[in-house]
Amino acid sequence: MGSPLTVESTTVHVGLAERSYDIHIGSDNLPTVGELVAGLEDVTHAILITDSNVRELYGETARKSLSSANLQVDIMTVPAGESSKSTGIAEELWKQLLSLGADRKSVIVALGGGVVGDLAGFVAATYGRGIRFVQIPTTLLATVDSSVGGKVGINLPGAKNMVGAFWQPQSVLIDVNVLQSLPARDYHAGLAEVVKYGVIQDEGFFSRLENNVGLILDRDPEFMRDVIARCCELKAYVVENDERETTGLRAILNYGHTFCHAIEACTGYGTYMHGEAVAIGMLCASRLAESLNRITAEDTARQRDLLEQLNLPIDLPADFEREPMVEAMKKDKKAEHGKIRFILPSRIGHVELVDDVADALALAAFN
Ligand SMILES: NC(=O)c1ccc[n+]([C@@H]2O[C@H](COP(=O)([O-])OP(=O)(O)OC[C@H]3O[C@@H](n4cnc5c(N)ncnc54)[C@H](O)[C@@H]3O)[C@@H](O)[C@H]2O)c1
Ligand SMILES: [Zn+2]
Repeated sequence: MGSPLTVESTTVHVGLAERSYDIHIGSDNLPTVGELVAGLEDVTHAILITDSNVRELYGETARKSLSSANLQVDIMTVPAGESSKSTGIAEELWKQLLSLGADRKSVIVALGGGVVGDLAGFVAATYGRGIRFVQIPTTLLATVDSSVGGKVGINLPGAKNMVGAFWQPQSVLIDVNVLQSLPARDYHAGLAEVVKYGVIQDEGFFSRLENNVGLILDRDPEFMRDVIARCCELKAYVVENDERETTGLRAILNYGHTFCHAIEACTGYGTYMHGEAVAIGMLCASRLAESLNRITAEDTARQRDLLEQLNLPIDLPADFEREPMVEAMKKDKKAEHGKIRFILPSRIGHVELVDDVADALALAAFN
């Protein structure tokens, strides 16, 4: 791993009229969260929501910074892991907010991965009909994906992200140095979403990734700052043009995800990390595109090589039962009346929505 060092900060603007905000990406900038929050209009109170792991690592730095900015600071810690995205935990947090007297002068600061961001954002969206929140994503997945775009929510038993809202943060603060402590598997899984942005929107970015695998695996702060900034820009463009999933553009972010969701459902959640299933899913989608003569075998091979070099799985085990997958895809919440919709690449840097694919071709793409 690269040694943490300070690199200059860069800013990505998310333009959503009165809901616009900036994403600040730098290193060693976690101690500036107090300044950032105190700089918002009419704030006196910060409620830091984090999980047990992240609190141990970065909770104190954030708390200190918020306190030195003369804010009243309260901390709420949830158990690490997906199971905290539940109605039970959300209720706990609402009650705690009430007893702390949280009001319009309070700001929730979500410090953690996608679980904390989705949960704390959902609580912010709903408590008192909505209070402000700031995101400090600490996993690679959260920096490039879940903290951008305003989707917040919790799970119901057997139904992921079933209850939620669109609720944009006031600001996002990303400190690339926190990625140094991320377990290798989480880091690599996050890279699958990074590769996805290259395939769906930006060939030049994809080539930069191909040419700098060493810096990526080393978690080089400067290179990763630029990678994260580019991903945020690309996602911001999509969100700006389809904030609430009404124009169809936002669907391109789902590249690889129709297959991914089927893999997650059929392997039992937990076998693959989400990003790992995305990696396999993107290659399935690209092979499907090949079988429809929409993309060349060379372009699939480029994706396969890059994902493999980034330590991601690229195939399901040979003995894995493929048949139930197609049914699982039809049940996906993105499917319309049992018709599966695929986002398929036509080259690196461009994808299209395709919805008239024969089941047999979809099934063949798993191999
Ligand atoms: N809202 C969206 O648009 C969106 C998009 C994609 C995913 N998601 C959601 O994101 C969630 C997954 O997020 P995730 O992958 O970040 O998982 P996570 O939040 O569970 O974090 C993974 C693990 O890493 C730990 N961790 C976090 N930061 C760390 C750090 N810097 N160093 C060491 N350990 C650290 C956490 O405690 C946890 O154990 C899912 O619930 C998914 O639904 C939401
Ligand atoms: Zn994803």
